[in-house]
Amino acid sequence: MKKILIIGATSAIAEATARQWAGEGHRLYLVARNGERLQAMAADLKIRGAESTGVGVLDLNDFARHEQAIDDAIEMLGGIDIVLIAHGTLGDQKACELDFNLTLRELNTNAISFISLLTHLANRFEAQGHGTIAVISSVAGDRGRQSNYVYGTAKAAVTVFLQGLRQRLHKSGVHVLTLKPGFVDTHMTRDFKKGVLWVKPEVIARRIAGSVASRRDVVYAPGFWRLIMAVIKLIPEKIFKRIQL
Ligand SMILES: NC(=O)c1ccc[n+]([C@@H]2O[C@H](COP(=O)([O-])OP(=O)(O)OC[C@H]3O[C@@H](n4cnc5c(N)ncnc54)[C@H](OP(=O)(O)O)[C@@H]3O)[C@@H](O)[C@H]2O)c1
Repeated sequence: MKKILIIGATSAIAEATARQWAGEGHRLYLVARNGERLQAMAADLKIRGAESTGVGVLDLNDFARHEQAIDDAIEMLGGIDIVLIAHGTLGDQKACELDFNLTLRELNTNAISFISLLTHLANRFEAQGHGTIAVISSVAGDRGRQSNYVYGTAKAAVTVFLQGLRQRLHKSGVHVLTLKPGFVDTHMTRDFKKGVLWVKPEVIARRIAGSVASRRDVVYAPGFWRLIMAVIKLIPEKIFKRIQL
């Protein structure tokens, strides 16, 4: 039985992962801002086999409350083996181009809140000398594109932060996992036209649970995105600036 904290637990990807972990009989603590949904999820996960469930209601842009929320989770769980950070917003890129306040809000939600949470969590995991810190970044952080470069900037910051953290925590025996999903059919992408590259959250959830168990470092989900992004990263700027992506 593992003690697992899921931050941004009401996200479709996080919920699918929580179901997987509940089925394996783990103890779960869920953090998100929608208390009603959290309670319903906690009850559902208990039925699905979770050893026990607890919840914490928090707007993750309220950075001042992060440390207390983490301590509450650790107290309820009786320690911590795994944390998954999964919240996020895909802001309106065009609106951000016209209003820096919107850009700042997107960067706070998708980058600064992650960095705040990871700062508190890293010190606790480092002190205990074991466990897994798993974080959902995105393929969007691999290269800036005109269609979503504010979101991509935030994800790139998270990816680089995790690279440094992984090196720092390796010597303490702490595993740091960076997840880079491609196109996933969730509330976040409800208005997008879906095609062959799209997958359901359950596909990503299986990849997350498997990658935590096998202590992988950087995981594209599905795996074919590693190849797609390798090609996209190879395109010279001279050409890249002229194409629509
Ligand atoms: N879907 C994709 O194609 C895709 C691709 C690559 C990476 N990702 C990443 O995967 C993760 C999960 O996304 P998803 O696709 O599962 O989307 P989702 O179902 O729309 O979930 C996003 C979650 O983030 C929460 N959230 C947003 N701002 C918050 C805040 N200030 N405080 C607390 N919670 C907040 C939302 O809570 P409310 O419901 O209360 O608003 C929601 O539960 C995100 O980090 C996303 O960037 C997604």
